[in-house]
Formats: sequence, C-alpha cells, structure tokens
Amino acid sequence: MKFFVDTAEIDQIKELNDLGMVDGVTTNPSLIAKSGRDILEVTKEICDMVSGPVSAEVVALDAETMLAEGRKLAKIADNIAVKVPLTWAGLQTCKALSDEGTMVNVTLCFSANQALLAAKAGATFISPFIGRLDDINIDGLELIEDIRTIYDNYGFDTNILAASIRSANHMSECAKIGADVCTAPPAVIKGMANHVLTDKGLAGFMADVEKAGIKIL
Ligand code: G3P
Repeated sequence: MKFFVDTAEIDQIKELNDLGMVDGVTTNPSLIAKSGRDILEVTKEICDMVSGPVSAEVVALDAETMLAEGRKLAKIADNIAVKVPLTWAGLQTCKALSDEGTMVNVTLCFSANQALLAAKAGATFISPFIGRLDDINIDGLELIEDIRTIYDNYGFDTNILAASIRSANHMSECAKIGADVCTAPPAVIKGMANHVLTDKGLAGFMADVEKAGIKIL
C-alpha cells in the first residue's frame, strides 16, 4: 500500500520523505488555508520535493471553470494530480482532464455508486473519506471494501485512495482490505510506530543498561 501524506506543511513532508515514507502528497483548500501559503507556490515546492503524485484541488464549482483551474494546476509539474469534488461538474472535469492525460483525484466520495461513476469518468484516484463516515456512524472501512470489490469485479484501474484517515488502525485495516493508497496526516503516519509493549520493553532494557553500566561508545 502506498503512503500519501495529507498536508501542505513543507517541513513535515520533508521529514517523512527523507525516510522514504512518502509516495505522494494530498492537499485540499482547508490544508492550503492552514499553511497560510499561496496555493501555486506551495504546490510547486511540494512537487519539487516529492516524485510521486501531488494532489492540488480546484476551487470552482462549475465544470468550465474547474477545467480551466485544473489545466493551470496541471502546468505546475508533471506529477500533479488535479483534485475535483465528486459532483456532476467534477465528473465532467475528471473526464476532460483524464482524456488530456492529466491525473485526476476525485475527492469527497462517500458511496460505492460515486466511486463507480468516478472510475467510469477515468479517475486515476478515488478518495473515499473514512473518518467522516465514521463520524456519522457509518462504517468507513466497509465503503473501502465495497469499492475494492466493485473495482476488482470489472477490472477498473482507478486507485482507491483512502482519505480522512484518523488513526493508525485505519491504516492497517485499509492495508488488509487492499486500498491502493492511504493518505494520512503526518501525526497518524508517525503514530504507527507506537506500541505500549515497545515502550515497556525499552524501559526494561534501559534499566538493565543502567544497572550493568553497559556502554558502546
Ligand atoms: O484527505 C481528506 C482529509 O484531509 C480530510 O480529513 O480528518 O478533515 O476528515 P478530515
């Protein structure tokens, strides 16, 4: 499973990228606003750092303007994936950009039917939002399973990009289901390293290091 990092914070992307943990980056208007940076400038900086796909989202609601925005975003770098919302206008834009050879990430997906439409429109990535479904008592992971089944049934090559990931548990569950990609905030990716038994075991080893005066350097 590929790891995308869901942030527009350059330092955080760099830290994970230097460890080989970043296969791509996703941003959205909220993350760009949080960074306080200009969308074109920060997106270019991310594309220069990361070799995998970098999602940059359109902000228009109508297809014509979305397409113009998508084309402008696509010019930033070869690894841009233009992100469009899962609306009818977004699907129209997805089809047009995909036909032009631009990667498209269709976002704000909350149902298997929406994912089916995105695949038919040629999306490179579909982004089902797990956490936001969990928030309203609908099992987000079940949606990932359903999309996996549908895409496999018909050989769609759209990548399932599980988004709105809130926990390390979401990451391993998505990997078990067979999501192609998970995009998660840096803190969730770093949190995957934590285990209470690791901490406890290390504390025991350190106590013995102290007791025996073990030194290596
Ligand atoms: O990738 C989508 C993500 O940014 C949304 O996450 O936690 O706001 O639902 P969240």
